Amino acid sequence: MNRGQTIRAIKGMRDILPPESALWEHIEQVARSVFRAYAYQEIRTPLLEATDLFARGVGQETDIVTKEMYTFDDRDRQSLTLRPEATASVVRAYIEHRLHEQPGVKKLYYMGPMFRRERPQKGRYRQFYQIGAEAIGSESPRVDAEILEMLLVLLGRLRLTGFTLYLNSVGCTGCRPQYLVTLRQELAKVRDRLCPDCQRRSETNPLRVLDCKVAADQPIIDQLPALSGSLCAACREHFEQLQGYLKDRSIPFQLQPRMVRGLDYYTRTTFEITHGALGAQNALLGGGRYDGLSEALGGPPAPGIGFSIGEDRFALTIGAVPNDLPLYIAWMGESAYRHAAEMARELRAQNVMVELPSDPVKLKKALELASRLKARSVLIIGDKELAEGRYPLRDMARGEQRIVTKPELFQQFAGPAPAPLPSFAGAKPS
Ligand code: HAM
Repeated sequence: MNRGQTIRAIKGMRDILPPESALWEHIEQVARSVFRAYAYQEIRTPLLEATDLFARGVGQETDIVTKEMYTFDDRDRQSLTLRPEATASVVRAYIEHRLHEQPGVKKLYYMGPMFRRERPQKGRYRQFYQIGAEAIGSESPRVDAEILEMLLVLLGRLRLTGFTLYLNSVGCTGCRPQYLVTLRQELAKVRDRLCPDCQRRSETNPLRVLDCKVAADQPIIDQLPALSGSLCAACREHFEQLQGYLKDRSIPFQLQPRMVRGLDYYTRTTFEITHGALGAQNALLGGGRYDGLSEALGGPPAPGIGFSIGEDRFALTIGAVPNDLPLYIAWMGESAYRHAAEMARELRAQNVMVELPSDPVKLKKALELASRLKARSVLIIGDKELAEGRYPLRDMARGEQRIVTKPELFQQFAGPAPAPLPSFAGAKPS
């Protein structure tokens, strides 16, 4: 790289800058508070894992593992992969730390970056972010119902509308093999009329044919037998119970018998939520049960269910959150600065967002700066105000000014109960 040549972010990876980052912060705060209410606890797993974890967990034949992973040999030749998703990592941690020995269902949530080398477009990135939750240790459909309830509460708290919850059951290791035999037989009859990808999938991963988006294939796929017709009695009962629990909660859903999802660990319940505003990449989130994943990774039986929200897509659908500044303090002169700094410290101690410029500027310029920062109010402090203890407070939207005393200012911005000022007692005296 030549000196002076600018370095840009890698294709498909981007910076999340203010004001958009305020929206991300808001989404994450709301998610944390909803997860807390449902007694989920945070888990943080490494971004790098042994490649084998995803090969065995997500599935050798999936698009993610065959085409999309960032995999490299470490200096000691161990093959490592940047996580393309987090469920396999959570289950690995569950096994590694023997969380199954703790009583009850282990309810964990995470948020953070995932990596898939896909073709970048709007809503699809190579580093993207997920907010997810996993409940491990029970196969009861009551867990499925509770996690879907939590998910819809979260979407509701973020005021999301215009989405659809699609639900399906993909059966279990008992009933799916028989279905796959039937599906392969039927696919063999229509294979030549399908798109090249589906011709390949007919051999390698026939279930994925059901998920094909190519328009010309749709009438052919519609004629294929549906998985829901081949569920065993236990899977059928599980799915019916779940639907009953969702109806109890008035959670609207649409059955989507062709939805198989792109990861191989799924058993029984699968779901997706799509949103109209997202265009081609319309899956806002996806999830489902993975009752055999722990055993596939060498662990004890530990049936689980979870979901992951695509946070980038979520942010696209929600749009902006208000990011204006409650108060800007304009000061003129060094003594006014010292007074303003103390006032700002007192207000900030009560969690009022205050901007205090660090360089001296004339009042006109200060008002321009405040307006660019979307300040709702500007407090003006000069020598005269300092002497009188009364300050002009400008309402920026109305362009009106009134004179306030310090107690009036605090009453307006911080409410009645003052908090003690930080003493900085934790810092050693010099
Ligand atoms: P997934 O369907 O692969 O499931 O991803 C979940 C969500 O992540 C998608 O619905 C989408 O919103 C977002 N997403 C995926 N790829 C990208 C991308 N390249 N750019 C932007 N957003 C993307 C899973 O990852 C499973 N771990 C979900 C799960 C949790 N199942 C059980 N527990």
